[in-house]
Amino acid sequence: MKKILVTGAVGQIGSELTILLRDLYGNDNVVAGGRKTRPSEKLMNSGPFEIVDCTDGNRVAEVVKKHKIDAIYHLAAILSAVAEAKPNVAWDVNINGLYNVLEVAREFDCAVFTPSSIGAFGPTTPPDNTPQDTIQRPNTMYGVTKVAGELLCDYYYKRFKVDTRGLRYPGIISNETLPGGGTTDYAVDIYYEAIRQKKYTCFLKAGTFLDMMYMPDALKSAVDLMEADPSRLIHRNAFNVTSMSFDPEMIAAEIRKHIPEFVMDYDVDPVRQEIASSWPNNMDDSAARQEWGWSPEFDLEKMTVDMLEVLGKKLK
Ligand code: SER
Repeated sequence: MKKILVTGAVGQIGSELTILLRDLYGNDNVVAGGRKTRPSEKLMNSGPFEIVDCTDGNRVAEVVKKHKIDAIYHLAAILSAVAEAKPNVAWDVNINGLYNVLEVAREFDCAVFTPSSIGAFGPTTPPDNTPQDTIQRPNTMYGVTKVAGELLCDYYYKRFKVDTRGLRYPGIISNETLPGGGTTDYAVDIYYEAIRQKKYTCFLKAGTFLDMMYMPDALKSAVDLMEADPSRLIHRNAFNVTSMSFDPEMIAAEIRKHIPEFVMDYDVDPVRQEIASSWPNNMDDSAARQEWGWSPEFDLEKMTVDMLEVLGKKLK
């Protein structure tokens, strides 16, 4: 029987992944671990919740022991723009936090899922059809922690046989919990503002192409990878996965198909623009397709229909 701990369960991905895992494995078998932020009623009422700060290794161990956890979805992390503003916090959470989780996993024999990111690439990475195995010289603190995290997870598998697995997520678009301080967040904000104001001021330049994914595919990819036959996995910890690649003009045009009066202008944030410009335009995710059958369901068109429908009701 799987007993799962989700760290960062109150965050953008965690808040939805925890609910999906509870549906799949049973409410009592999935512990939501959050730091401070108050969890939603849905999260609180559907299963166990524990305060877990991943920078406190003893606390992680305590919760794993108490609930007899055998798989950890380690989602607690600092995103790219916040990491540039607070590099020390990003190092502590993204590196020391992951190290603590891996150590606990080694001691208590847990499998570990860890997201990496398009942020693990940098300005010298081939930007188009970015290969699975390629140059990784990121120039952001977020990227430094993500590359180190990929390597650390590989190391724990090779050295200690901890069943580590992970994905390089693109920007994740969702309508339940807002992302906190990422560079790809514009692609979430734009839908909220399209509904609320019919107007959006974008902080990235037109022509900035980035990989993106709708939340249902992001959740499915995590679960499918953790359920994959380990004998087929060659890459384990850093699979490129993507569903679509677009720039601000393309997403605005897609929204305009449904809200014709929608207008977008630009007020470029130099910090986030520089980060975005150092990331791939579009990744090659064929390794994920071959090794565990990755195949996304949502493209830009289908996602836009769903986002506008869900947010239309939610923001009424
Ligand atoms: N969405 C993340 C960010 O923008 C990238 O993985 O920081």
